[in-house]
Amino acid sequence: MLDKAAEYIRKAESIVVLTGAGVSAESGLSTFRDPEEGHWSKYDPMQLATLDAFNSDPELVTRWYHWRFTKARDVQPNQGHYALGALQQHKAKHGQSLTLITQNVDGLHQRGGAEEVIELHGTIHTWRCTVTGKQRPLSELSFDTFPIPSDHGGLMRPCIVWFGEMLPEEAMLRSYGAMCDCDLFITIGTNGTVEPAASFIVGAKENGAATIEINRDMTPNTGIVDVALQGLSGMILPRILDELGIDMTNE
Ligand code: OAD
Repeated sequence: MLDKAAEYIRKAESIVVLTGAGVSAESGLSTFRDPEEGHWSKYDPMQLATLDAFNSDPELVTRWYHWRFTKARDVQPNQGHYALGALQQHKAKHGQSLTLITQNVDGLHQRGGAEEVIELHGTIHTWRCTVTGKQRPLSELSFDTFPIPSDHGGLMRPCIVWFGEMLPEEAMLRSYGAMCDCDLFITIGTNGTVEPAASFIVGAKENGAATIEINRDMTPNTGIVDVALQGLSGMILPRILDELGIDMTNE
């Protein structure tokens, strides 16, 4: 199956990769729906990941996202991130494309060598003022107090998409454009149930793209893809690059 996936990737002129929390699991970041370790098995998303939650308890919500920011800042990209970065660069060098769309807010794809990443759910590294919308990297802000006051009498909140909020328009337009044009769609480390990202694979398939899933577990997409590779993305992706003869250190 791995050789079949490699063959699809070799032939594809235009690839879209959609990633989720599973790609960062081997870096030490929790996923959301793991029954034991996932964030949503320990915390109620409605009390942490909505605008109402932030408005009613900004200290709790700020502390939680600040904690997630420090975790993301302090871990390292894993072999899966590096493999995707190398593959994106390899495809670009050969006049082809790999559009990397992530639901992750951790910034690990960029640190793993990906030059262009569509961050569908925003980023935890940048925060914005609730009054002016002015954005600042969290690393530049002082966080002696929670919530974090802004310079304009408001509060700083993470530039991520909470439940019930609109996804960034540009990221959505670019994602839909890439999904409609690609000849191969690969979904990696995402449970495939959170919209709108969950429907991308069906949209790509309807437009004639081949499909691959790489996931530790079965998902609703496992039965519909052309190739399903079950296992850890940090192990499978480097093996695919090896099969393709792409040296991860040289791209
Ligand atoms: P989930 O936690 O729902 O799913 C993670 C998926 O990765 C699961 O299918 C796991 O089986 C798989 N997985 C875990 N470790 C893996 C590994 N090492 N290699 C490959 N697969 C692995 O996370 P997402 O699908 O990303 O949104 O969740 C989507 C959205 O729901 C998140 O962006 C977040 C969440 O609520 C918001 O917070 C708005």
